[in-house]
Amino acid sequence: MNVCLLTSGGDSQGMNSCLSELSKQLHKSNHKVFASMGGYQGLVRNQIRRIDSKEFENISHLGGSVLKCFRCPEFATKEGLQQSLQALKQYKIDAVIAIGGDGTFRGANRLSQNGIKVIGIPGTIDNDLTYTDFTLGYDSAVNNAVHFIDDVKETLSSSNRIGLFEVMGRNCNDIAVATAFATSADHAILDKENFDYKALVDKLRSLIWEGVESPCVIVRENILDIFDLAAKLQRDMKTECRANVLGYLQRGGRPSLNDRILARKFAIHAVKLLDEDKHGLAVGQVNDMVVAVPIGSAHNINNRRPNEVLSLIST
Ligand code: F6P
Repeated sequence: MNVCLLTSGGDSQGMNSCLSELSKQLHKSNHKVFASMGGYQGLVRNQIRRIDSKEFENISHLGGSVLKCFRCPEFATKEGLQQSLQALKQYKIDAVIAIGGDGTFRGANRLSQNGIKVIGIPGTIDNDLTYTDFTLGYDSAVNNAVHFIDDVKETLSSSNRIGLFEVMGRNCNDIAVATAFATSADHAILDKENFDYKALVDKLRSLIWEGVESPCVIVRENILDIFDLAAKLQRDMKTECRANVLGYLQRGGRPSLNDRILARKFAIHAVKLLDEDKHGLAVGQVNDMVVAVPIGSAHNINNRRPNEVLSLIST
């Protein structure tokens, strides 16, 4: 078969590890390997090229994606889809393996509905795909966040300052909850509707009164302006407060051990499925087992950290 690889959406650690293993497994099974540059944009603009068995040999340890990773609104249009199908036809591509998140899977599903054999591999730091316990990049992103916060807490505690830390996740709380738990944060803000400023002030006051010199609060992105909040808290509590937006620090750098292992597992399973002529599927991991579900049902976003973890960090 001629198989095209692509990475799309926000890049995540583990994408390159996965590409490396995919290339290895596909070549081993005598498939011809192609790659689309910049995700679906490469299909729309006919930026597809052949990948030989050596090209992805030494990229496993790299963050980002060597294939580039764009969001591509053009692909969502009728013309964009037609151009993509045309390009795939030109290279006689039978199958596409797409690594990415929610939007990537939606795109892959459209290809599947148009006769292309597709396999989706979950790659996003947000961990917002409900059908799988983990997506590639999530573990690395949380590790990065935890390391950063550990370091910053050292300086905050030297001057008894309150620390606010905004983490990524789009609308999913998984990074925020895991980071809050791992850093023993004193509070987490996870929900716009139920955010109660007065309750936060009361809680921080009582923590300080109980002897916590530098309370630490994790804030999931897209909820509030963390710099405004820091200024208000500093004014009302008469205690110095510092806001930190972790941003791309979470997405950069080497994939963690867990992401590298997961990437290999997903790649091996994806190629096995194609070899068995099974497609229209997204691979994932549930309770340590690799699973495959129909790609059309694999893009539900949900917040689903266990309640016991949520209650321990009390929001
Ligand atoms: O989806 C991954 C993610 O890193 C989100 O956590 C974040 O909201 C978004 O991408 C940032 O997107 P961009 O890199 O396009 O600014």
